[in-house]
Amino acid sequence: MTVTIVGAQLGDEGKGGVVDLYGDTADVVARYQGGDNAGHTVVHDGEEYKLSLVPSGAVRGKVGVLGNGCVVNPETLFEEIDALRERGLDPDVRVAERAHVILPYHRALDGIEEEEKDDLAAGTTGRGIGPTYEDKAGRRGVRIGDLLDPDALRDRLEYVVPQKKALAEEVFGKETGEAFDIDHLYDTYREFGERLAEEDMTVDCGTFLQERIDADESVMLEGAQGTSIDIDHGIYPYVTSSNPTAGGATVGTGLGPTVVGQGEVIGIIKAYLSRVGTGPLPTELGGVEGQTPDYDPAGASADEEELATYIRDEGGEYGTVTGRPRRVGWLDMPMLRHAARANGFTGLAINHIDVLAGLDEVKVGHSYEFDAADSASNQNAARSDDGDELLTMPPTTEQWGRCEATFKAFDGWEDVDWAAVAEEGYDAIPENARTYLEYVSDELETPIYAVGVGPGREETVIVETPDE
Ligand code: IMP
Repeated sequence: MTVTIVGAQLGDEGKGGVVDLYGDTADVVARYQGGDNAGHTVVHDGEEYKLSLVPSGAVRGKVGVLGNGCVVNPETLFEEIDALRERGLDPDVRVAERAHVILPYHRALDGIEEEEKDDLAAGTTGRGIGPTYEDKAGRRGVRIGDLLDPDALRDRLEYVVPQKKALAEEVFGKETGEAFDIDHLYDTYREFGERLAEEDMTVDCGTFLQERIDADESVMLEGAQGTSIDIDHGIYPYVTSSNPTAGGATVGTGLGPTVVGQGEVIGIIKAYLSRVGTGPLPTELGGVEGQTPDYDPAGASADEEELATYIRDEGGEYGTVTGRPRRVGWLDMPMLRHAARANGFTGLAINHIDVLAGLDEVKVGHSYEFDAADSASNQNAARSDDGDELLTMPPTTEQWGRCEATFKAFDGWEDVDWAAVAEEGYDAIPENARTYLEYVSDELETPIYAVGVGPGREETVIVETPDE
């Protein structure tokens, strides 16, 4: 049986904590997309580990797999494995031979393109994710399997590197160095290939996982990022270049959709919204310079800024990988209804309700009013019965940016001893917080499996365990 974990919003929903919690009963934890743009913190035996590529389960003695849908930077991979070994762990990490390799020119081009794009820049993590997926789709990528095959590696590099060099130098007018040098790349990546082979790390992902499932083992499929930054279902072009949605779990591992569909798909929701990157955000509170479009600190409302700063600091809303302050906002229900449909959630984990404790009032963007300038025909989204409100996100980001959120207010809840709540169970959650949680669950017609009431994995109220 598989349990698939998917971010329901814009990434950073606290998936790591849930993977960690439910991953305890899993034998294998496999990532199916993304690369070292993800960031997760795992606390194990009182020690904190910050990882961006190695699946968190590997810290706890599980087999961690990077599926074929991932893009793998071998430098980051070995740095993380070596750092874990130095701290006395022995992570068992496998990498799909079909996964694509992030090369130094991908990182360089990620930075160059972001600079060029100006208003269209997605505010990427700069890890070379987009350019690597571009080469994958353009059939000029280098795969993990090629690192083990010197002739194939050389052939691939000889074809692709001159194109990348010309792009950087002639189109973008940049100087290039060893990141675009075939011999240097060949020597370095050949060595990575030797190490992958020596440590017997490469697998045919689908076969590897199916064998474990056939042996009655439990496999967790870990999505990175979130539904609204999915390249197909997110706020294009301010998205990542892969499919964090549940469909990605099948394509990105080689397990059939019927296999993934027989298991659970758990949507991870943060009780408010956070966003690293650019693009519109109808329920945003305040703003962050360089990320919020047209942000003017001088014209911002002081109350909103104060509230945003409070939530940002209480929730530690600073990027794990980049340290950037995240934009914050109220929960966006049209975004969540869209995510529930696109992923087919069977259960929800709602995190960080402790962060909102102590506020007099907690709001949610229940629906959107659409701008009068938009005719009904170019606002394709689910509507309320009277047709006046949008209940899900419209398909274009420009339309989304013109949506005004209609808010619903909930009475706030008090700060309590959340560790005690986690121990006592769901009914110990303050009543107003339960009203809030049940509203979300009812709107999404999906049961709540877990509620995060603090940063540690013990600080989770477990309502349902997926494979029991
Ligand atoms: P990229 O994935 O580095 O190409 O970045 C594309 C967009 O996805 C940017 O807006 C990033 O901020 C966002 N993004 C990428 N990874 C994460 C993540 O792990 N959490 C939240 N946002 C992310």
